Amino acid sequence: MKTVFPIERFQHIRTPFYYYDEELLSATLDEIRKQVSDAPDYHVHYAIKANANPVILRQIAAAGLGADCVSGGEVGHAVACGFDPSDIVFAGVGKSDDEISLALRIGISRFNVESIEELEIIQQIAAGMHRTAHVAFRLNPNIDAHTHEKITTGKAENKFGIPATQVAQLLQAAQNMQHIQFEGLHFHLGSQITDLNVFKRLCQYINTLQDRLEQEGFVLPTLNVGGGLGISYEAPDEQPIPDFKGYFDVFKTCLHLRPHQELHFELGRSVVAQCGSLISRVLYVKKGDTRDFLILDAGFTELIRPAMYGALHKIENLSSSGVQSCEEYDIVGPICESSDVFATHYRLPLSHRGDFVALRSAGAYGEAMASTYNCRPLVRSYYSTVEE
Ligand code: LLP
Repeated sequence: MKTVFPIERFQHIRTPFYYYDEELLSATLDEIRKQVSDAPDYHVHYAIKANANPVILRQIAAAGLGADCVSGGEVGHAVACGFDPSDIVFAGVGKSDDEISLALRIGISRFNVESIEELEIIQQIAAGMHRTAHVAFRLNPNIDAHTHEKITTGKAENKFGIPATQVAQLLQAAQNMQHIQFEGLHFHLGSQITDLNVFKRLCQYINTLQDRLEQEGFVLPTLNVGGGLGISYEAPDEQPIPDFKGYFDVFKTCLHLRPHQELHFELGRSVVAQCGSLISRVLYVKKGDTRDFLILDAGFTELIRPAMYGALHKIENLSSSGVQSCEEYDIVGPICESSDVFATHYRLPLSHRGDFVALRSAGAYGEAMASTYNCRPLVRSYYSTVEE
């Protein structure tokens, strides 16, 4: 399923902008549903930090996914975009008092709690509001996700989660808190994980831990294994839909779920990355002494992943179909920072001022991380099914 770019339509739109292939998003959501259809206790919450565009969120909510939020703003936005409060989970190491109150007022499904200090504050606020807070504890399993260090979250040196050594003490404490209802354990190892063995290791870790906790008398109604499934940045057209079968099969075969125990997932990138592209135009082809620069009208204000994580998004010149000769360019943006580079020594067909360029696989952590640095306008979005 290859995204088709309607260049004729693009002629009338001011660049840069995001273009979303809603048919691909719909096929991706269908595939997720298909892969969990034989597992009634599996439930996917979409991590809305990956892309909180309202059009995208409504489509995902309509497909029956819940929402995984990391701020009060996301919780409110998720409800406004059609997610049922009872299907919203709220994570994050630093939830403010206002955010906790808001989530309790809205009646979210559960807090993923990251410290004993946080648990005590949730208990206090819930008591003041005469509410019960449903909580899962996020544990830090100290497992290496074999991904970029800036998107690794499950190692002991990361700020996330509670060390396993403290879990029994925490469960004990929760039992004595009148406004806390314990719902289970939560894990999230990191993002853009392409080695499925990492998830196998997580399953083995949970199996051992669950056996031990049960022996100590603790029951875990739900397990939440977070998100993290990676996508192909190299070949978006060959692998437009990530390997959800392989991913869910790991849990089906390796995790020892108890009867009626629920298993939750928090997938972000794998749901939305491939359906979005950043569309830009070439402003200048600048001849340098040692290299040629393709200067685009999009920069890290629209897509920060290359500057922030050294990520390489596939880049295509949409206007040069049929052009045979290739040139090597450094493809850069207009922002006044040397880090505003999308790719170096990148081969593209001979390119010219005015050509349309697509930065692919940008549906996740693209628009959501856009900024107005240099007083640039916030990037706009267009959709395959809606004509302007
Ligand atoms: N659950 C939790 C608790 C998370 O922190 C995250 C992502 C997810 C789920 C969703 O993970 P995913 O399925 O999308 O991998 N801006 C970075 C990625 C940051 C991920 C933050 N947490 C990037 O552009 O690569």
